[in-house]
Amino acid sequence: MSKKVLIATEKPFTPEAREKVVSILEKAAYEVKVLEKYSDKSELLEAVKESNALIVRSDKVTPDVMDAASELELVVRAGAGYDNIDCQEAKKREIVVMNTPGQNSNAVAELVIGMMIMMVRGKFSGKPGTELRGKTLGLQGFGNVGRRVAEIASLGFKMRILAYDPLIPPEKIRGSGAEPVDSPEKLYAESDCISIHIPATPETVRSINYDLLYKMKQGGVLVNTARAEVIDEDDLLRIYAERPDIRYISDIAPTNQEGILVCDGNRCFFTPKKMGAQTAEANFNAGVAAANQIIGFFEKGDTTYKVNN
Ligand code: 3PG
Repeated sequence: MSKKVLIATEKPFTPEAREKVVSILEKAAYEVKVLEKYSDKSELLEAVKESNALIVRSDKVTPDVMDAASELELVVRAGAGYDNIDCQEAKKREIVVMNTPGQNSNAVAELVIGMMIMMVRGKFSGKPGTELRGKTLGLQGFGNVGRRVAEIASLGFKMRILAYDPLIPPEKIRGSGAEPVDSPEKLYAESDCISIHIPATPETVRSINYDLLYKMKQGGVLVNTARAEVIDEDDLLRIYAERPDIRYISDIAPTNQEGILVCDGNRCFFTPKKMGAQTAEANFNAGVAAANQIIGFFEKGDTTYKVNN
């Protein structure tokens, strides 16, 4: 019997990306169902029932979803961060979880650059701003997105790039054209702009706190296209009130954004929806990778991008 795949995307792929994903899977004789823009979890619980594999974006794959999907063998997160999936629970049930690393990195990196420009140019208000050329950019996390930001910023803007990433050897950071620094404090203290590229894990949640934010240079810009959870939002509001020079821009609005906006909306900007990976190319690349990984898994047992080991 053919395997059943559900594509469940509350924030849908572009139609072209979705069509391509469906056609790859159907060509390989998989049965494909699509659930897009659902507003209630019950729709996901119903749709996933007979699925052997599931493709999601930021959709939450929690134990109740797994309960509803008794045939589920594989979940592929079409994207990088998999904090939306209960990986431990999946492991207990022998469900493999994969991501598609690198497939949407350029989209996120380009947004970071756009956001930095928007902030240093006074949110395009017409008031005099500053330029990026020659400034120092600090990257907190030097994975696929961080490296791509480094590449654009150093080649295009001649920025000096610092990177803090305890998981990557300093020589590898140097090899990618950045200077490794040995603490987040140093990164925040020495950078004109800081861009966050760390996942949300028990270790990183609320790790960007008052003490770290206080280290920011005068007039520093903090860009967050990672996860809201890594910032201590109470501390963000506090530092924002105390330091009228600091600017914050993100594609994930903090839950206390009202307080921040009331404090000084000129120094922050939040996109209405998480949009780092919202490009036709990123949708296409991540979706196609997910489809191919499903086929590789079922046909050849390939678990290259398994994340719940
Ligand atoms: C990711 O982790 O890949 C990004 O945050 C993109 O998430 P999205 O696919 O939900 O936009």
